Amino acid sequence: MNILVLGGAGYIGSHTVYELIDKGHEVVIIDNLETGHKEAVHKKARFYEGDIRDRAFVDYVLDNEKVDAVIHFAANSLVGESMVDPLKYYDNNLCGTKVLLESMIAHDVKKIVFSSTAATYGEPERIPILEEDKTEPTNTYGETKLSMEKMFKWTDRAHGLKYVSLRYFNACGAHKSGMIGEAHKQETHLIPLILQVPLKQREAITIFGEDYDTKDGTCIRDYIHVTDLAQAHILAVEYLMKGNDSNIFNLGNGIGFTVKEVIDTARKVTKEEIKAVVSKRRAGDPAKLIASSDKAKTILGWKPEHADLEEIIADAWRWHKAHPQGFQSI
Ligand code: UFG
Repeated sequence: MNILVLGGAGYIGSHTVYELIDKGHEVVIIDNLETGHKEAVHKKARFYEGDIRDRAFVDYVLDNEKVDAVIHFAANSLVGESMVDPLKYYDNNLCGTKVLLESMIAHDVKKIVFSSTAATYGEPERIPILEEDKTEPTNTYGETKLSMEKMFKWTDRAHGLKYVSLRYFNACGAHKSGMIGEAHKQETHLIPLILQVPLKQREAITIFGEDYDTKDGTCIRDYIHVTDLAQAHILAVEYLMKGNDSNIFNLGNGIGFTVKEVIDTARKVTKEEIKAVVSKRRAGDPAKLIASSDKAKTILGWKPEHADLEEIIADAWRWHKAHPQGFQSI
């Protein structure tokens, strides 16, 4: 198939491109490199640098390339930033998607797989979280992703543009080849921050709160390997290409780990002490987020292959040790 990947130079986007190319698909990438990295662009993909808010640019790419389906990762995704600069999130995530959809309709491209998030749920009403549970985001990032889902729903109703929305839980790990991994200019995620300690880039990892109602008082999350996420995107494209209807799926392992358990596992993997200090809660963090991914398993035939937290952290560690400055050190 010919797949257009928006945000294909970013963390989850680049891993998905690697898996697509591995399976023999033709890949075209659009990325504005605001948070993505040129070095993460697969050599066999055709790369267009530009912004999806630019209609003439998106039209140009779709005029030039034969595209069967789109996978859309191009968005801002920092929860904290979204609370201090909400309009940036509305502009990039929503206006960008609107322009993209207009161009897709004009070019008769009618299938899209889209990265959504567990942040669409907000504070969960039950664990594990099911797709039909209430969606009440507690931050602008989650709100824009939920609005994007609704934009797809109404566009499908009017134009028959079919979509799959994939709600990820905590993406982590790195490609087995060691060629690509997580490299955010502004790092906020737990596992890469923990690994900065043995890399001597940070003295200690800060635990945001140990007074939650969980077994050791720290927050519980569902950590899912980025390569397993990548595989789900390919299955979702295949699902749409078979003529199936639009749908929404959670993607997680269904297993929760506390922040302290993640730190302990990182100590085991790195064989380093890793100092941890406890500070107060981070605003907006739900105590517990665990996915039910039964729907993705049943309907898409998805099966996470790298669910073991030790393996996930070992893959991340291999990448970060070899690239302590991210892509700058390649
Ligand atoms: N944490 C710490 N110390 C740190 C960083 C994080 O204790 O230095 C804790 C957080 O409080 C949280 C857990 O580690 O309990 C995981 O935090 P991350 O920032 O790695 O991930 P989040 O669960 O906050 O966010 C993830 C995705 C978001 C998505 C969200 C859905 O990264 O994109 O899940 O709730 F929106």
